[in-house]
Amino acid sequence: MRAVDLIQKKRDGGELSREEIAFLIQGYSQGEIPDYQISAWAMAVYFRGMNARETGDLTLEMAMSGDQIDLSPIAGIKVDKHSTGGVGDKTTVVLAPLVASAGVPVAKMSGRGLGHTGGTLDKLESISGFSVEMTREKFFDQVGEIGAAVIGQSGNITPADKKLYALRDVTATVESIPLIASSVMSKKIAAGADAIVLDVKTGSGAFMKTLDDSIALAQAMVDIGTHLGRNTVAIISDMDQPLGFGIGNALEVKEGIETLKGQGPKDLQEVCLILGSQMLVLGGKAKDEAEARIILLSHIEDGSALAKFKQMVGAQGGDVSQVDAPDTLPAASLLVEVTAVTGGYVEGIQAEEIGVAAMLLGAGRETKESVIDLAVGIQLSKKVGDVVAEGEILAVLHVNEASEAKVEEARAKVLEAYRISAEPVPPQPLVFALVT
Ligand code: URA
Repeated sequence: MRAVDLIQKKRDGGELSREEIAFLIQGYSQGEIPDYQISAWAMAVYFRGMNARETGDLTLEMAMSGDQIDLSPIAGIKVDKHSTGGVGDKTTVVLAPLVASAGVPVAKMSGRGLGHTGGTLDKLESISGFSVEMTREKFFDQVGEIGAAVIGQSGNITPADKKLYALRDVTATVESIPLIASSVMSKKIAAGADAIVLDVKTGSGAFMKTLDDSIALAQAMVDIGTHLGRNTVAIISDMDQPLGFGIGNALEVKEGIETLKGQGPKDLQEVCLILGSQMLVLGGKAKDEAEARIILLSHIEDGSALAKFKQMVGAQGGDVSQVDAPDTLPAASLLVEVTAVTGGYVEGIQAEEIGVAAMLLGAGRETKESVIDLAVGIQLSKKVGDVVAEGEILAVLHVNEASEAKVEEARAKVLEAYRISAEPVPPQPLVFALVT
């Protein structure tokens, strides 16, 4: 077999067999096929696509390229949740304890932020002492004992995907539905969950800008999961504005704590209830979404979701007193208001621009090596549909000395991100579809 023939076959719209896909992925992982040939193949896939069988084969090949975690020592149906990446998305901070408090074990491996999107590990590290590193044994023990753990990826998970994703990033081949679907699902399959709930974001701050593309991506991922024996569902949720009001690590943990107390922003609470309900149904703890929602709300109201969060924080070395007193989380030294130039109604908030502005202030990483500041970020004051008067505050930048030089740039970006209309803006859907 020769890579050049497989590139040509895909370039001309052909279908690659399981063996041919294995040849490319294994050859690339082992350094036998060079970057330039895999780049050409990825570009051919970008234009020609892959059918469901090819996408499934690629997923499995990447999942098998490294360690595969066996979660069977943990009792119960392990349900994983994955978001395709949003701005202000702190759902894992809320869902891990919330769902665990309802009896579904959450053994979650999360990531760090890069570019305009944040990462759960960085957010949780805003709590002093919180450790996201532990041995596999301790991870299993913690989930067994308290029902939830959130850690960084340990071991050598999907090295083929890591290598391919880095190459796609610099060859303009990220935005391909079969490549994104197989990349995401290979990690979920290797991480060992029995069932998977996906949150596919749609809109200005998402990979997929249109609803049709988002549904197609969700369907591709659900089909892969189902084909590989993992019960998988996806929701399509709005990313035409950030989720909640806080963007930045400590700001997001604060909002997560408020949500666990039932005092968080409505949109964040609703997305958490929808995702959490799916997790409870797949985890066998509720017969349908309506029952699951009642269970979740009861755990928020009776304080058990918050108590579970404290248990998890304590088990991972975090300072539990900060959960009781979120004002003791890292805080910025300077607050800078961004005010509206014209009055009207907020029509949209370009989530990606807000994410980039937060990154400029130091909340996110420009490159993998960037050092982040857990205290800084952006607190929105207005969301889509709100009335705003000229001169009124749209958002507040939380700034520290190190990022003061970037304040003007960040302020301009936030201002640009807000689209103000003269006409009232009707409420926007938060979740557009459920894909099964
Ligand atoms: N996230 C991933 O893990 N892979 C992609 O290809 C895109 C987003």
